[in-house]
Amino acid sequence: MQHINPSETIAWKKLESLATNDQTIQSLFENKNRFEEFHIRFGDMLVDFSKNRVNHETFQTLIQLAKESGVGEAISDMFSGKPINRTENRAVLHTALRNKSNTPVQVDGKDVMPDVNSVLEQMKAFADKISNGQWLGFTGKPITSLVNIGIGGSDLGPVMVTEALKPYQKENIRVYFVSNVDGTHIAETLKKVDPETTLFFIASKTFTTQETMTNAHSARDWFLKHAKDETAVAKHFVALSTNGQAVSEFGIDTENMFAFWDWVGGRYSLWSAIGLPIACTIGFDNFEKLLEGAHAMDNHFRQESFEKNIPVILALIGIWNTNFLGATSEAILPYDQYMHRFAAYFQQGNMESNGKYVTRNGEKVNYSTGPIIWGEPGTNGQHAFYQLIHQGTHLIPCDFIAPAISHNQVGDHHVKLLSNFFAQTEALMNGQTLEKVMSEMEKAGKPKEEISTLAPHRVFEGNRPTNSILVKKIDPYTLGALIAMYEHKIFVQGVIWNIFSFDQWGVELGKVLAKGILPELENEEEINSHDASTNGLINAYKKMRS
Ligand code: F6P
Repeated sequence: MQHINPSETIAWKKLESLATNDQTIQSLFENKNRFEEFHIRFGDMLVDFSKNRVNHETFQTLIQLAKESGVGEAISDMFSGKPINRTENRAVLHTALRNKSNTPVQVDGKDVMPDVNSVLEQMKAFADKISNGQWLGFTGKPITSLVNIGIGGSDLGPVMVTEALKPYQKENIRVYFVSNVDGTHIAETLKKVDPETTLFFIASKTFTTQETMTNAHSARDWFLKHAKDETAVAKHFVALSTNGQAVSEFGIDTENMFAFWDWVGGRYSLWSAIGLPIACTIGFDNFEKLLEGAHAMDNHFRQESFEKNIPVILALIGIWNTNFLGATSEAILPYDQYMHRFAAYFQQGNMESNGKYVTRNGEKVNYSTGPIIWGEPGTNGQHAFYQLIHQGTHLIPCDFIAPAISHNQVGDHHVKLLSNFFAQTEALMNGQTLEKVMSEMEKAGKPKEEISTLAPHRVFEGNRPTNSILVKKIDPYTLGALIAMYEHKIFVQGVIWNIFSFDQWGVELGKVLAKGILPELENEEEINSHDASTNGLINAYKKMRS
């Protein structure tokens, strides 16, 4: 992968001057073909990016930026297993986990596909036993509750997908997730399950993460308190990890371990053994459809020209909004209640990947990188934070996502939901002028004084950019494609920003300091080894708890 400072490319300089153009999104629609020209269909998915401050010249210059930044070469480096995660000297191959064409993928001269396929077979056999009620607990009863213990990438993907695909959930299975080291999380979960019928997945790439190991030990203690037999652990605990040694040290038979590899990033791991709780909850056939949808998006990403390439275009529009129009955050707004963890999932995906200020050459960037990602499902968000998106002082580009068909056809709920989905992007683009507000108030017979006082507050500037992603239905295949679409968007942005998107050194310092502080909390002595604030807080805490 080349090391190119994007701000020194010809395209970047041109984009800076194009950003001074004050053409509004609304005025761009004087081109009657704009929707046709600025949307892409991918199977049942329609991605409309026409409601952005992007005219033809800007679009072509953004494409030029991708070309000048070496995005094409980077895509082929990633798919072909080059060690593009340079700071950890690893390949980045979550795409191999869903490589349904089964073409060889080489890492250090070895094809990884036989290993990938063999773990998938192991997962299928296990998931089938769980769904068919053939995996029995220590008293001979079938497993009915699954508890995933993991955090970050070993939690968020399985949570998000099992929630998004709840309509596909097997009737005999309940699934729970424990991530936080706050004892409340495990305590409240254990209240809901029965040790005789519960299976724990200890999900950790490293199998050293403090939160996960603490929760895993507490779950094991709780289980043994009931089972009173160490040999019963094998029937109730499985590990999803890359670290066989730590798994057996914990006491899980490596027979019950589902492996993955260091070339799978934690936040890209739901396609791997980390996806086992998904496969057990919705069935392996549906898990495979999820992989197939992602693979189809991978092929699109690899093969389409940049002008028709959905992840590349979404990445470029994001860069335009961030680096040229000054946006600092992006909202992801699914109009689908089942997708309520989708934004949270991509908070990690995006912010842990592109929250970097050091370039691939080790220098400080002289431009903005990854935006803050946030969001909630519509219409709830409309009644909470959309006010700021419509009339606040920050430019917040939004992705609106909606299915044409709901899993729950209840009365007219879905058309009402979708009328809001369409209305919001229209309102954000068109806004509402002072003249219109005044004339409406006049028509409503409001007194002149009230009109002049209230009218300015009811003006919407509009011109706020959105993408709309309409899918037929949130099914496993479509969800797989949607996730892969965002993964590749993040990748392209990282390439252009010239940063390393697949490490996460920024989370280490806090972990190291917490390790140092922990023994200081284990006695009542006064602490003075930190700065005055940290000392003061620790000492106050010790007094409060006594
Ligand atoms: O602390 C961040 C992180 O390393 C994430 O990148 C990762 O998803 C999470 O912790 C969990 O790590 P593990 O799967 O090794 O327990």
